Amino acid sequence: MMRVLHATTELFPWVKTGGLADVAAALPEALGEMGIDTRTIVPGFPAIMAALENRASIYEVHGLFATATTRILYGHLPDRKTAVYVVDSPALFQRPGDPYSHPQGGDWNDNLLRFAVLGWAAAKLAGGELDRQWRADVLHVHDWHPALAHAYLSETWPPVKTVFTIHNIDYPGRFPPHDYGRLGLPHWLAAPYGPLEFFGDLCFLKAGILLAHRVTTVSPTYADEITRGRFGGGLDGVVRARGDRLVGILNGVDYRTWDPRHDTHLPCAYDPHSLAGKTACRAHLRRHFSLTENASEPIFVVISRLNWQKGLDLVVDAAETIVASGAQLVVIGSGEGHLEWQFRQLQDRFPRQVGVHIGYSVPLAHLSMAGGDALLMPSRHEPCGLTQLYAKRYGTLPVVQSVGGLADTVAPQTGFIFDEHFTSLADVVQHVTYVHRHQARWQHMMLTAMAQDFGWENSAREYLRVYRELQG
Ligand code: ADP
Ligand code: GLC
Repeated sequence: MMRVLHATTELFPWVKTGGLADVAAALPEALGEMGIDTRTIVPGFPAIMAALENRASIYEVHGLFATATTRILYGHLPDRKTAVYVVDSPALFQRPGDPYSHPQGGDWNDNLLRFAVLGWAAAKLAGGELDRQWRADVLHVHDWHPALAHAYLSETWPPVKTVFTIHNIDYPGRFPPHDYGRLGLPHWLAAPYGPLEFFGDLCFLKAGILLAHRVTTVSPTYADEITRGRFGGGLDGVVRARGDRLVGILNGVDYRTWDPRHDTHLPCAYDPHSLAGKTACRAHLRRHFSLTENASEPIFVVISRLNWQKGLDLVVDAAETIVASGAQLVVIGSGEGHLEWQFRQLQDRFPRQVGVHIGYSVPLAHLSMAGGDALLMPSRHEPCGLTQLYAKRYGTLPVVQSVGGLADTVAPQTGFIFDEHFTSLADVVQHVTYVHRHQARWQHMMLTAMAQDFGWENSAREYLRVYRELQG
């Protein structure tokens, strides 16, 4: 049986800042269902430590990179078949805030060390040095955080095959070089032109791209885009160096969590054959935000990190058009302060037509997905995007720019596509409102979107093909 170890910092529902958590939770389970012995290694963040069941300490190391004791625990998380290894290093991971930054907002200043320890543990575990009963045939590393695993594996024998998935090239994991001496890695890796060196800094993502046996990213269009300057975040040359080994595999949807047929966050269930529940969810959403009830124009929803990548300034610019047409806007999100402030201002100006929740709220994300009519996701870069896929299942039509995974998953039959260089979002919103008035056409689009299947099975099969190719 093939053994695959996934290394990640995020795991839904315990640790999540974005779609990485959803993917890292669903893909190993899907592979497990295909008969692969899949396990996951994660840092011992507070929520993981609190949830870990049947734990056993399998390894202990003192003073690794001059940090305090690190234990490797083996166990299970509730309702999950995939076994987990947890890097239990309280000094590094038992902290408030999200995985990367302190509650006031800045990155932790020892992130280099924190994630080097994760990469070290992933490599040693995959190579069979930490668990006497298990090693991996394939180590699958997600994003920059565990990417030093590739460096720590360079001397492992027999070699472990590695897959590195880029979830977002805009987050390179870049650090000044002065702590490199603590990491126990050979000098050449970080020397000028070495795989870790990037303009005099250390860059985890670059190391992952150059040292992994195979590199994948989360949609075919993004795989092509990041070979070019506009999307490559300065690493496009490094990606080009990998040439045709870069594969784009679309993310899937975990329909156990995201389906209005059985979504426990909704006041009413619904499906394509009985849409009354969606009407009830819409009413519930309006009441929650004290928006005008009995309005006939659509509700536009945003469920997102609020930043430039996601194009949320375009939504701010379009808001007055939305309001003027009698439509409504609901925003669930957090991120850059100026965007949070602008959305709050809009809510203050138009309290009956704009509802805003600044912060992270799973129940409100689900309710908005169900109660909305159209999802605004005008991202400038979008490696894959999951929210537009969830929206379709809820009959909420996505409004997207034609980039990355959005270009691969939204078509005119199931959503609205634009390019900010040619059309303003305000114009698109007016068009959406116009189509919404033609209910027969709108309903047809909704039903087409709801019937689409983006389940994990296809994507997991494609990853399996990559693993098998590596095994030769
Ligand atoms: P990204 O990973 O770039 O943020 P994705 O579309 O892949 O974009 O995934 C975003 C995930 O985060 C989705 O599961 C979405 O529902 C969730 N999400 C985003 N913002 C919030 C929020 N404010 N509250 C709850 N969930 C959110
Ligand atoms: C990143 C990307 C997003 C993608 C997610 C999961 O956060 O920004 O587009 O869906 O990773 O792969």
